[in-house]
Formats: sequence, C-alpha cells, structure tokens
Amino acid sequence: MHHRMSILITGASTGIGQALALHFAQQGHEVFAGVRRHLDADALAAQAQGFIKPILLDVTQPASVENATAAVQALTHGRLDVLINNAGVAFSGPLEMTPHQDLARLMDVNVMGTFSVTRACLPMLRLAHGRIINISSISGLFAAPGLTAYVASKHAVEGLTAALRMELAPMGVKVCSVAPGKIDTPIWDKASHTSDKLLDEHTPELRALYQGLIHFYKRYALHETGTPLETVISAVEHAMHSVSPRARYIVGRQARWRARLNWLPVHWRESLVLRAMSRSAPKARQN
Ligand SMILES: NC(=O)c1ccc[n+]([C@@H]2O[C@H](COP(=O)([O-])OP(=O)(O)OC[C@H]3O[C@@H](n4cnc5c(N)ncnc54)[C@H](OP(=O)(O)O)[C@@H]3O)[C@@H](O)[C@H]2O)c1
Repeated sequence: MHHRMSILITGASTGIGQALALHFAQQGHEVFAGVRRHLDADALAAQAQGFIKPILLDVTQPASVENATAAVQALTHGRLDVLINNAGVAFSGPLEMTPHQDLARLMDVNVMGTFSVTRACLPMLRLAHGRIINISSISGLFAAPGLTAYVASKHAVEGLTAALRMELAPMGVKVCSVAPGKIDTPIWDKASHTSDKLLDEHTPELRALYQGLIHFYKRYALHETGTPLETVISAVEHAMHSVSPRARYIVGRQARWRARLNWLPVHWRESLVLRAMSRSAPKARQN
C-alpha cells in the first residue's frame, strides 16, 4: 500500500488526464485535476463523487497557472508529490498548409504550458521531494512526415524532461516522460477536425501535392487500433512509485517498434517509413 500522495494533473477534462485523475482518486490519493471549463469541473467532480478536486487551469494563461498553483499550494500546505504534465493538442498536416496561429497554439499548449506549470510547481515539488511526469509521445522520439509540428513539440518535451532530470536531481525531484503510441481518446477527433480545416483552406493543387500524407493520416486516425488507456496508467503508476523510475516509458507495441527503428542508419529508417506510409495510402482512397 502506497502512502496518500498529492497529484496535480493538467488537461484532465477528457482522455488520458481524466482516466489518470479517476484512477488515482479511486486509490485514495489527493487529486487536483486541471480543467479549463466550469462544466468539465462539475462533470469530473460528479463522476468521482467528490474525491477529485477540479482546478481551473489553462496552461497557456500565466494568470490561470498562477491562480491554479496558488490554490494547490494552499490545499497541500505547499507540498506536491506528483505533477503530471498531460495537457496537449495534436493535428497532422504538411507544414506548408499549417497557418502560424495553429503552429503557435500547438507549441503554446504542449511546450510553453509544460514549462510554465512545471516552473510554478517547483517550490512545492522540492519541498515534497516529488516527481514530474511529462506525457510526451512516441512522436517525441520518432519523426514522421506530416506531423512536423507535433513531432517538434514532443521532441521539445523529451528534451526538457532530460535536461530537467539532471537539473533537479540534486534537489531530490525525479523527472521522467511517458511516451505512448496511439491511444483511443478524443484527441483523434479533435486532430481530424483541425487537419480537415487546414486542408479546406488550400487550393486543390496544393492538396494534390500532399495527398499521400493526407490520406495516410485519415486512415491512421480511423483504422489504426489504439493501445488501451490502462497501459498508460500502469506506466504512470510505475513512474510515481518506483524507487528508481525509468527516464522514459514507451507505451504500446507499435510505439516500441517505432522506437527501435531509430537504431537504424537514418537513410534506411527514413526510406522504410516512407515506403510503409505510401503502401497504406492507396487503401485509404477506397474508404
Ligand atoms: N491519445 C493518443 O494517441 C496520444 C498518444 C501520445 C501522446 N498523447 C498525449 O497525451 C496527452 C493527453 O492527450 P489525450 O489523448 O488524452 O487527448 P484529449 O482527450 O484531447 O485530452 C487533452 C487534454 O488537454 C487539455 N488541454 C488542451 N489545451 C489546453 C490548455 N490550453 N490548457 C489546459 N488544458 C488544455 C484538454 O482540455 P479541453 O477539453 O479544455 O480542451 C484535454 O483535457 C497529450 O499531451 C497528448 O499529446 C496522446
């Protein structure tokens, strides 16, 4: 039996964050669940029968980060055992077709949000000798075309995780990442919606130029089987409780397979990836 921990999870309205919040609340931990809307706060509190404390938190708004972390500080007497940086957005789309504001929003949530929530929580984490668990992605290790912005944001998360791990080790704060492959959550519908919007805004000529990539991701979002959410929960649980947590947890068979491709010489790896992607594109056109 583990001792009762205080845990702050960002982006807990749906998907992985919500599942983690409900799971840890059920285990008796003190869970602060970051959500952006009152409606989501009420829904989560009702679902957890009062065992979750929803906190209004938009990771891209400095005032929101300040208020949320001040609330957590007051409720935990300044000691936070675990911060789970989970809030994130995703979309696929060729860089040439992605407007500045979509690139900025993605980097703002996935990277700047992780920086600012982590920075604000550090005094509490230091006091508790706590842990930071960053929900990254296999895209943080494995670059695929058509996902340039998301890949860049998750490589940044992997990079900041590695640097912070060393920076905070002398203070007894442990830092790791959890890098899942595909998990079935609402992120895929949201991503498809954003990607469709990007495509609609361009000429048929440009769409034709990138149609292989576009079809690949449509098919991937719809047909690729996701790994169960429970596998992410198990990885986070290990990262929370282990005396020596791993630096990185790669979650799901597909993700582990992709990570292994990184051992190949770069031109082999890239031609394999391109070949695999082009093989699946004609099938997508029949859908
Ligand atoms: N699902 C996958 O296949 C997969 C794979 C690898 C990595 N991941 C990563 O896992 C994390 C969770 O994703 P998910 O699949 O659970 O997706 P999700 O269901 O869409 O959840 C994303 C969460 O992030 C929140 N969020 C978005 N913008 C925010 C902001 N500015 N401030 C605070 N919260 C914000 C969303 O809140 P709202 O409801 O308010 O928008 C939502 O609660 C993400 O970092 C994602 O990149 C997911």
